[in-house]
Amino acid sequence: MSKQGKDFSKYFDFTGARVLKEEEGKTTYRINGRDITVNAAPNYKEEKRRGKEAIQVHYETATPPELMELGKGKLYHITTYGCQMNEHDTEVMKGMFEQMGYAPTEDRNEADVILLNTCAIRENAEDKVFGELGHLKHLKIEKPGLILGVCGCMSQEESVVSRIMQKHSFVDLIFGTHNIHRLPYLLQDALFSKEMVVEVWSKEGDIIENLPKKREGMRGWVNIMYGCDKFCTYCIVPYTRGKERSRRPEDVIAEVRELARQGFKEITLLGQNVNAYGKDFEDLNYRFGDLMADMAKIDIPRIRFTTSHPRDFDDHLIEVLATRGNLVEHIHLPVQSGSTEVLKRMSRKYTREMFLELVAKIKRAIPDAILTTDIIVGFPGETDEQFEETLSLVQEVGFSSAYTFIYSPRVGTPAADMEDNIPEAVKKARLARLNRIIEDLSRESNEAEVGRTVEILVEGVSKNNANVLSGRTRTNKLVHIEGPVEWIGQFIEAKVTEAKSWYLKAEPVLEYRMEEAVS
Ligand code: 5AD
Ligand code: SF4
Repeated sequence: MSKQGKDFSKYFDFTGARVLKEEEGKTTYRINGRDITVNAAPNYKEEKRRGKEAIQVHYETATPPELMELGKGKLYHITTYGCQMNEHDTEVMKGMFEQMGYAPTEDRNEADVILLNTCAIRENAEDKVFGELGHLKHLKIEKPGLILGVCGCMSQEESVVSRIMQKHSFVDLIFGTHNIHRLPYLLQDALFSKEMVVEVWSKEGDIIENLPKKREGMRGWVNIMYGCDKFCTYCIVPYTRGKERSRRPEDVIAEVRELARQGFKEITLLGQNVNAYGKDFEDLNYRFGDLMADMAKIDIPRIRFTTSHPRDFDDHLIEVLATRGNLVEHIHLPVQSGSTEVLKRMSRKYTREMFLELVAKIKRAIPDAILTTDIIVGFPGETDEQFEETLSLVQEVGFSSAYTFIYSPRVGTPAADMEDNIPEAVKKARLARLNRIIEDLSRESNEAEVGRTVEILVEGVSKNNANVLSGRTRTNKLVHIEGPVEWIGQFIEAKVTEAKSWYLKAEPVLEYRMEEAVS
């Protein structure tokens, strides 16, 4: 690393910034009276580059012995926004906090460190975070010793880091998705320097194994890969999460085996595009289908995965999924649009016909597979006819449910430069129409379950009724069932008695737990 500081001013709006200190590649600025040390700053151009460098895997632990006491007697709180990838990153950070001696708290007023683990996927996700920062400012004023950090996908955006540095200077720490393993060091810097510390690597680093993870409940998330190389024109993820890199199969298998040993009942394999798993291995011809075949051999009742890209969903994977066992009959397959023309402008790299063909193949191999999806309405230039094509595709496939979104322009992505010519009212009307159809399909799909006996993994008490338990079928349908809280974490066989739009009601068919029945 050079002894010189780096000039970060080209990345940001540095109005009023003054350089205070430069050393070891870091530069300390004074901006609006606040001292800010920048170790590394996000840069869209670098985030977009896909280098040929081989990814290294490191097996060391993140927390050095001298920082194991840093949090003794102190409390931390993390608020998480966004997808399961973020939820899982939070589990890793919780693990690191607890290795440093911190204890968790739900009450932000008593926390010594608060982190916001942010999502950048749509503008409203970002608005929420800036709103939250407004609230936290008051807490920080009351309690100056509080360390307030922003991490996750928003930190990877130039404009966000710039805005926080200029307008939210009470923040103490900003770090990116590639800097999570550096948390103990960054926290130490923020605690002792009293400056705002900014460290956001634009290029993904290596794969760091052996980070601690604090998992709760009976369902575990396991990363199988990081990043995305698809560059759909609307999507910020390839920038915020870097290039595709897969964890070694032996590391994934060892982690899932360990979770099985600990008694976890369900594993969800995570990746921004799990179907691209293994494409980056130079020494190994081992892809997602192979990984799923190995998962099927592990003694854990349910294995899920998310999220798929239709383009990479190959025949071998379908063949493996059709063997069932612990591989469940639910596939989340984001289609985004039913119009080939829109798909082309989204750079999805498949047509309507190719998607329908893939669905037909899946249904031939797994006739009772439940398919769910993601859809964007109001993509720039989407005509009424093209939107109708989305509706007809949704009906033709018969998705059981869907996450639906109004297109939200993301700075730095190609679609943000396309003319957004659809009036807001039209976008809202399209979303409402789509949602009505999805609701009908969801109810129909649920009605088909009435009278059937299903296996439910009981997850907890229902949100709306403390006397009712909630659980999930293999196909990920939400089920409400009456029973004792001891059933939480257990598999129960139940008969579906009633279908609602978004959940099923069921009654247990056995008086005893399935596990006892088989043992
Ligand atoms: N605007 C709206 N929705 C988006 N998604 C991704 N990027 C955007 C955007 N810019 C949706 C896609 C994706 C899901 C996670 O979020 O449907 O599958
Ligand atoms: Fe997850 Fe994408 Fe949101 Fe990041 S931007 S939290 S990867 S959904």
